[in-house]
Amino acid sequence: MSEVQQTLVLIKPDAVRRGLVGEILRRYEAKGLTVEAMELRRVDASFADRHYAEHVGKAWYPELRDFITSGPLVALVLAGERAVEAVRTLNGATDGVAAAPGSIRGDLCASKQANVVHASDSPESAEREVRLWFPGV
Ligand code: CDP
Ligand code: MG
Repeated sequence: MSEVQQTLVLIKPDAVRRGLVGEILRRYEAKGLTVEAMELRRVDASFADRHYAEHVGKAWYPELRDFITSGPLVALVLAGERAVEAVRTLNGATDGVAAAPGSIRGDLCASKQANVVHASDSPESAEREVRLWFPGV
């Protein structure tokens, strides 16, 4: 049975600064995922706190907030068969150093924080994050 889902993806400020938007989008499209919304945005600290609600309070969160608000990012809604899992697999492990070669993080970064992409980690997170970033989609 097919299970088409939406998921929320961020191409983070480090990737935008490094000119990697096209390279990253190419990988999602090559996988067969469809772009349903896309916007270049800058977010402020309070929006970052809402997006990363589960991490507010962690020792490393203040630095993550500074990073995610440090410049424009590209927010996307992608759709496709089991899109949440498909995008998490393409992205690779959180720590770019440990991420598998062939994954976006494994190929494009070597940092635990500046790891080029975000993606929703479950269908429930996807629903919440898509609603937060793109209320109309
Ligand atoms: O993004 P992902 O779901 O793979 O990882 P997370 O554990 O939900 O953490 C969210 C983001 O926080 C990561 O993508 C990193 O940018 C950052 N992070 C960090 O700066 N230091 C850590 N020790 C863990 C995560
Ligand atoms: Mg996460």
